[in-house]
Amino acid sequence: MKFVSTRGGVGLVSFEDALFSGYANDGGLFVPENIPQIPVETLTSWKNLSYAEIVEKVVSIFVTEEEIPRKDLKNIISSAFKRFDIDEVIRIASFDDLHIAELWHGPTMAFKDLAMSVVGEMYRYFLEKRRKNVVVIVGTSGDTGSSAIEAVRGKENIDIIVILPHNRISKIQELMMTTVLDDNVHVYAADGFSDDFEITIKNLFNDGKLVKDYNLCSINSINWGRVMVQIAHHIYMYLQVAEPIGKPVDIVIPTGGCGNIASGVLSQTMGVPVKFACVVNNNDIVHRMLRNNDFTVASEVVQTLACSMDIQIPPNIERVMWIYSGKDFQATKEIMQKFDTMGSTSLPKDLHQKMKENIRTAVVTDEEIVQTMKKCWEEHQYIACPHTCAALAYHYGISKYGTRQTTGTKGSDGTLSPSICVSTASICKFPEILAKAEIEWKEEPKRIKDLFHKPAKSIVMHKEEDWEQILREKISFISQARKN
Ligand SMILES: Cc1ncc(COP(=O)(O)O)c(C=O)c1O
Repeated sequence: MKFVSTRGGVGLVSFEDALFSGYANDGGLFVPENIPQIPVETLTSWKNLSYAEIVEKVVSIFVTEEEIPRKDLKNIISSAFKRFDIDEVIRIASFDDLHIAELWHGPTMAFKDLAMSVVGEMYRYFLEKRRKNVVVIVGTSGDTGSSAIEAVRGKENIDIIVILPHNRISKIQELMMTTVLDDNVHVYAADGFSDDFEITIKNLFNDGKLVKDYNLCSINSINWGRVMVQIAHHIYMYLQVAEPIGKPVDIVIPTGGCGNIASGVLSQTMGVPVKFACVVNNNDIVHRMLRNNDFTVASEVVQTLACSMDIQIPPNIERVMWIYSGKDFQATKEIMQKFDTMGSTSLPKDLHQKMKENIRTAVVTDEEIVQTMKKCWEEHQYIACPHTCAALAYHYGISKYGTRQTTGTKGSDGTLSPSICVSTASICKFPEILAKAEIEWKEEPKRIKDLFHKPAKSIVMHKEEDWEQILREKISFISQARKN
């Protein structure tokens, strides 16, 4: 299997090349040249597989034996999940018709760990083979940074530069990055939202010489490896609640940059009978695009309780668009180039209709998040993080513009299909919100408490500084130091 850019401007590349790239050279994102199918019989035969076994099945579809022999793949996957808190990796909490898929039992307590830990191990595997060094650059809206750091800290041949939005994420999220003192970890706290430095990162990747000279790569959610591994959790969630296999299931996703939904849509295109609801916070570009065909960046990013979803430029929507356009490279390129340069565009009618039919949307306010958290606690003594509460608000019918009751998938007898809410982070990362929901909770894990007593290091990048230049100098410095 080879990979192409959504904008059609680069030739076929290998899995390894896609894995070690950020954006493709034409500004697009890597996607598989063909989207393979998983027949229902195969899905049925996977019903009792563990999550790790499903990851192995999915990766084996996209990565040839020649690139990663199966024995090595097994080792990569088992090393990846060693640091998870529970053997099953993902746990499903069920209360009557409410199913919550806890995707956050990894080292940084957020769903990013699922794919990041596999990608980190794949990086180690290929770099040991090739004997080369890379500089990984990651911009984060809160959780990706710490997950990436944990995936590569202390690994030989890799330096990682993480840029986080200073004072715009939870204290614990920030400490999870700044308290890692390994020599190969370099953290910058930028005075802006992740959308602001995503532009800086994109500019760096558009400089082909810089990318080549310093082996620059990214394990942001734009990375194909991460999107690929995330297909596995959609299949796993489906298999846990489908009755019987083959019938539809609704998956409700708290959404920001659209990495999770991009993987979900891939699983759907591969034949898994899933439909989606994307729930966003007041940064509602995905909702406006799908509802009203208004793909326009708002004048500013709003700070919300679901802070990891405080994003106005959702990079992975490009993959979703490419898939629903029937792999129309030209259309994808035109839409995205207009969006990149003007900050506003709309989709061709057919494409918009197709996306709207397949992905429902809802918007939640901070008040609705708090209300949902309270309700879930009172009814089930279950505490969900603010992002997860966005999905739960849709399930409960609390969210604005769309609830499960009004937009969920209905069978011919009018009953709703089973649905599963994606829980993307642990409440332990966001204890500040508990008082707002009037929840008294004392179970703070030791590893969270310890964060407040550890030494921390990071460099602040002020608004008026030239972030691109600062990062260029750092990249050059790191590479020089490696040579000496
Ligand atoms: C806790 C949490 N929930 C939801 C999201 C949104 O995921 P995506 O960007 O894949 O839409 C993120 C992304 O950073 C996250 O960290």
